[in-house]
Amino acid sequence: MAKDVAALTEAEAVEELTRLADEIAHHDIAYFQHDEPAISDADYDALKRRNTEIEARFPHLVRDNSPSLRVGAARSEQFAPVEHGVPMLSLDNAFSDEDALEFDARVKRFLRLDEEVAYTAEPKIDGLSCSIRYEKGLLVQAATRGDGRVGEDVTANIRTVRDIPHRLAGSGWPDVVEIRGEVYLGHAEFAALNAAAEAAGQKTYANPRNAAAGSLRQIDPKITAQRPLRFFAYAWGHVSAPFAETQWEALRKLKTWGFPVTPQSQCVKGPEGLLEAYRRMEAERPHLGFDIDGVVYKVDRLDWQGRLGFVSRAPRWGVARKFPAEQARTVLEAIDIQVGRTGALTPVARLTPVTVGGVVVTNATLHNADEIARLDVRVGDTVVLQRAGDVIPQIVRVIPEERPSGAESFAFPHVCPCPLHTEVVRETTASGAETVVRRCSGEFACPFQKLAHLRHFVSRRAFDIEGLGEKQLVLFSEKGWLNSPADIFRLHTRRDEILAIDRFGETSVGNLLRNIEERRSIPLDRFIYGLGVRHIGETTAVVMARGYGGVDAFLEAMDRVAARDPEAVEELDAMDQIGDAVIEAAAAFFAEDHNRAMVQDLKSQLQVLDAEKPKTDTAVAGKTVVFTGSLERMTRDEAKAQAERLGAKVSGSVSKKTDLVVAGPGAGSKLKTATELGIQVMTEDEWIALVDGGAP
Ligand code: IVH
Repeated sequence: MAKDVAALTEAEAVEELTRLADEIAHHDIAYFQHDEPAISDADYDALKRRNTEIEARFPHLVRDNSPSLRVGAARSEQFAPVEHGVPMLSLDNAFSDEDALEFDARVKRFLRLDEEVAYTAEPKIDGLSCSIRYEKGLLVQAATRGDGRVGEDVTANIRTVRDIPHRLAGSGWPDVVEIRGEVYLGHAEFAALNAAAEAAGQKTYANPRNAAAGSLRQIDPKITAQRPLRFFAYAWGHVSAPFAETQWEALRKLKTWGFPVTPQSQCVKGPEGLLEAYRRMEAERPHLGFDIDGVVYKVDRLDWQGRLGFVSRAPRWGVARKFPAEQARTVLEAIDIQVGRTGALTPVARLTPVTVGGVVVTNATLHNADEIARLDVRVGDTVVLQRAGDVIPQIVRVIPEERPSGAESFAFPHVCPCPLHTEVVRETTASGAETVVRRCSGEFACPFQKLAHLRHFVSRRAFDIEGLGEKQLVLFSEKGWLNSPADIFRLHTRRDEILAIDRFGETSVGNLLRNIEERRSIPLDRFIYGLGVRHIGETTAVVMARGYGGVDAFLEAMDRVAARDPEAVEELDAMDQIGDAVIEAAAAFFAEDHNRAMVQDLKSQLQVLDAEKPKTDTAVAGKTVVFTGSLERMTRDEAKAQAERLGAKVSGSVSKKTDLVVAGPGAGSKLKTATELGIQVMTEDEWIALVDGGAP
């Protein structure tokens, strides 16, 4: 039984976070790369939740490879896996001057040196690291860090980042070189991106780092291209020949090859140099225009780096001196309860505005009832607020001496704060354990959830209704015109009433209604995803759509799943990647009369297009296919969609499991691997002949 998070000491927390990061990474690989989940979804979620809870208590311990920062990195099938030639490891953290001095002492002890050691001191950029491979000076592949061993192929997206050269400049670069560095977003660009998202009624990002990660991991590189991502180079992975003797020289070379290198980096000497560099960076931090969360010290001499080597996942030759989490005191004015799309009740602290780390903070999350009890925080209390890196502001503790007399403990509501006062249920996990989450059972009948459901419904990956942003949803809901998704498709009957509202002109209303009409015909997977059932994300929706084929079959199956018909449950369970969490959530959703009525009403407004079931009787059914090099008669997406339609599985990397490689001009390492493994290789024309001839 794991120890209660509230009772962990700092040292135990460090250990637990390390263990959780490893364990979660292990399950991610089992699930996403081998399709063999080793634990239930609920248990997996419990691991992630514990990690988040520990991080909430100790924000300064958040690891660079924290599962909470992974932004679903390994959670995607959209990007092919890339195994890093040299693993992308992380750095150990130092939190104080003493830690920094100890680092210097350790280096000297290890190398048995008397002389002063030279180090580089570089800003620790708060973005996401990437490895970009160049062969004969040409960019051939780019990968995210992923779990350090296997990342995601983001070549197309990286090519849109203007800071990154497609062809190395200058001279003296090795034949093969993997350049590593940080993709990030500047403060100004971040603010502009969020402002645009808000104006368009889209979701905003919490901080530049999340925005950079979200932007880089866009499926469509055209979207990445519109995001002003930037890059700083600071390291390298595999190289066919050494190119420098010191880190400092290496940084200079990276610059001559066309990469931006942080101008704040310096070469310093001895322990004094380390401390001075930290102070300077601390002073420069507010003026940089991009987020940094510390200073990275690296032993300058690369031969010494080689001798120092690595301990488990981090080098002995480097350390990250982290800036402390910034703290401030303020007063808790109120605790509000927010209701999310899934009905989870989240207490939010309303604070007297205070500046922490250059940002005015007025709200902080209190997570759940247990957290409020742990902190024993009461309205009127003076609290210590902390903001570290990209972690949302946290209340660390209460100052008991400043508690006003008569301050009462917070009573967590047993009913939803909505006018319906729906009962709140304490959720249980699939294994029956009670969790700390409380949920409103009202779904669409709960006005708070309704708005969140509608927001989800119109979002880009669901029904994608442009022009129906936050403002319009709120306004139309307030007027009583929008109570459920189906009402969106009845808005055209309110044309004159909408036009009567000040801000709406002929053009914008015309556009809005036209956009809505365009979505009356919708693919089954988007229909399913749009319903906003817990645990049914985009991927699951696609799987279900393919599995059931049509909307009627889907709805009939859901009714039977809700009634716990064993055959229907089994049929759903047998679908790829669908586990207990999805089944439970679907059953709970479709067991509610108001949800069923809502779905029927919606369906009556739409023409839901059947999903194409994967074929089993084609030449390529059941085969794993890899496309590499450039295709000339179709786009990569078309090729992939066609192959999948014909029942093939398309993979991004060649392995023993690959059945067929379709290689176009410019094919490189994948073609080579295929030949080595004796896998069947064909040209694009041969592929077309095969699928055209083989398809019924
Ligand atoms: S060197 C063996 N230099 O910090 C690790 N990393 O904890 C070599 N980072 O994953 C990394 N700025 O995402 C290095 N100047 C810098 C950095 C930097 C930011 C990040 C990077 C890495 C993490 C290490």
